[in-house]
Amino acid sequence: MASVTADQLDLRVKIGGLRLKNPVMTASGTFGYGREFADLVNLHRLGAVVVKGISFEPRSGNPPPRVVETACGMLNAIGLENVGVEGFLRDKLPWLRGIQSRIVVNILADSVEGYGRLAARLSEGEGIDALEVNISCPNVQRGGVAFGTDPATAAEVTRAVRKQTNLPVIVKLSPNVTDIALMARAVEEGGADAISLINTLTGMAIDINSRRPKLANIVGGLSGPAIKPVALRMVWQVAAAVRIPVIGIGGISTAEDAIEFLLAGATAIQVGTANFYEPSACEAIIDGIGDYLKAHGEPSVRTIIGALQCGESG
Ligand SMILES: Cc1cc2nc3c(=O)[nH]c(=O)nc-3n(C[C@H](O)[C@H](O)[C@H](O)COP(=O)(O)O)c2cc1C
Repeated sequence: MASVTADQLDLRVKIGGLRLKNPVMTASGTFGYGREFADLVNLHRLGAVVVKGISFEPRSGNPPPRVVETACGMLNAIGLENVGVEGFLRDKLPWLRGIQSRIVVNILADSVEGYGRLAARLSEGEGIDALEVNISCPNVQRGGVAFGTDPATAAEVTRAVRKQTNLPVIVKLSPNVTDIALMARAVEEGGADAISLINTLTGMAIDINSRRPKLANIVGGLSGPAIKPVALRMVWQVAAAVRIPVIGIGGISTAEDAIEFLLAGATAIQVGTANFYEPSACEAIIDGIGDYLKAHGEPSVRTIIGALQCGESG
């Protein structure tokens, strides 16, 4: 096996037109607008910071309680609280521009036109490197069913965003569907440059003494290590179904987790819930991927992407 020294390691990856110095990104909604973590994490080391989901108007989110701890994970029903697009461009983006990592803005809307309008406005902001489209939100025009559960609507949202921006468009898939590969192919055909997955799995928790739901919203999104095997399976299926790059998300908290996703076909990964209990997780994952490459004599992270071997060993 060839020996590889630390300075020979190449962690760079490309996601459509988005070039990252390493494949480790933060997951939307778990890292604020980046600045909140500046004292805890060396933001300049990250492949990219993905900010909290931004809507056109500011949103105050759902009433509390909005978060519940579960076995190896958490349920949240934050309700997409955010400062709105103008607040983001005015108060958050100028500071973020100072970091030497890519900036990805996660977007959400309640109509197809709303997604397009938001993409157009954000494209006027200086320093944004890509948009990540959250299609797990309810479609108000079509009775509140999430955009991300119907392939035709998911493709329509993708086309609307694509038409309004020259930025790389990453479409983030919901796992709450029967056939994830079908959803992936639909957004690829709609013009997505990349796909990220998974968003949270719908779940609930009950307080047996009060006999009431633990979340005021009754149901919420499950995240954290509990969802990793489901996420890994879906990433593997999607990577085999599309030609565009895939970003793996779901329960990643260690370098070993991240490497599993890369082997399954992800070009990059995002760290979500782990940021809450281990803010240094992203940095440890970057270092750990490097250690793995060195140990296996691989000069580039790109050579392990999709290197999973499912045939007979030997
Ligand atoms: C508190 C919280 C808020 C989130 N907010 C968003 C959001 O605004 N937009 C989005 O696309 N995903 C959001 N997510 C989903 C995460 O980005 C990620 O897809 C999911 O949590 C799975 O990854 P994890 O298991 O590493 O947390 C949120 C997750 C949590 C826990």
